[in-house]
Amino acid sequence: MFQRFRDRRTDRPTRLRYQETFLKREDFILPIFIVEGRRVSQPVSSMPGIFRFSADRAIEYLKSLIDSGLHSVMLFGVPGEKGLEQAWAENGIVQQALPRFKDTYPGLEVITDVCICSYSEDGQCHIGDNDRTCKVLAKIAGSHATAGADAVAPSDMMDGRVFFIRRELDRIGKTGVPVISYAAKYASNFYGPFRDAADSSPKHGDRKSYQINPPNSAEALEEIRADIHEGASQIIIKPALPYLDIVCRARTEFDVPLIAYNVSGEYAMVHALMEKGLAKEDIIYETLISIKRAGASRIISYHTPWALEKLDVYQSL
Ligand code: PBG
Repeated sequence: MFQRFRDRRTDRPTRLRYQETFLKREDFILPIFIVEGRRVSQPVSSMPGIFRFSADRAIEYLKSLIDSGLHSVMLFGVPGEKGLEQAWAENGIVQQALPRFKDTYPGLEVITDVCICSYSEDGQCHIGDNDRTCKVLAKIAGSHATAGADAVAPSDMMDGRVFFIRRELDRIGKTGVPVISYAAKYASNFYGPFRDAADSSPKHGDRKSYQINPPNSAEALEEIRADIHEGASQIIIKPALPYLDIVCRARTEFDVPLIAYNVSGEYAMVHALMEKGLAKEDIIYETLISIKRAGASRIISYHTPWALEKLDVYQSL
């Protein structure tokens, strides 16, 4: 006696009937790089199909995506010249872009990445001292919230930043702006194309003294627990694919919404296979569904435009 499984796989309609996990348009968050100026759109050479836009062009670009069901974006400001003050300035890139995004698309959730690495001269996510950095991050987060951010997402990995940011948001009356914390962010080799796009490579050294050491998992759960305790209402795990075990463990351990960041290197890797003719675009669907299957509530991904266009092809008869 043996069990038959192949009857669940005979043809496409059958496979769809037995499919356990599905992706929804609402699952996706699209990262957007914003640069200064007007009418600017610069392709990011290391990431096929990804651009750095000035705010006006980004808004144009989003129109068709929103028509196809885009719900959320995550903004990254990339200043023309380095200078820390621009990170919280009223006329900073992100602060200027926010009201324009919200005025044009009131229903779009606009999350901002809060970090200093693309603003600081040395490309590090801190200014030397942990607690002083937290105060700077709180100021940046406050300026984003004041400019209209729906949520702020600190990606620096300083200890205590969620506490400082939550306290600052409450102080300025932004009690309703959630902190979405990159609680479990690993010192990964998959960030290369992003650092290229955001011009945020550390000028010396690396980020190993603050991002999590890849062999550790219990520590990631501790980080998540601490951030929730400090006031984070959603959690980001980053990167996604090499850390799906963390997504899975966090899913069983915590009840908060869990977001997995399918980072730049994961995107470039999949595109490299497709460009070499070694994979069909099904590889993108497989990538995204694996993140959802592991337990992610939402996915930050550069594949979002593809997903919005193709989900129905994969998930309906
Ligand atoms: C740093 C930051 C990084 C990413 C977003 N914010 C990584 C880093 O340089 O350490 C990476 C995102 C990606 O690779 O897509 N504040």
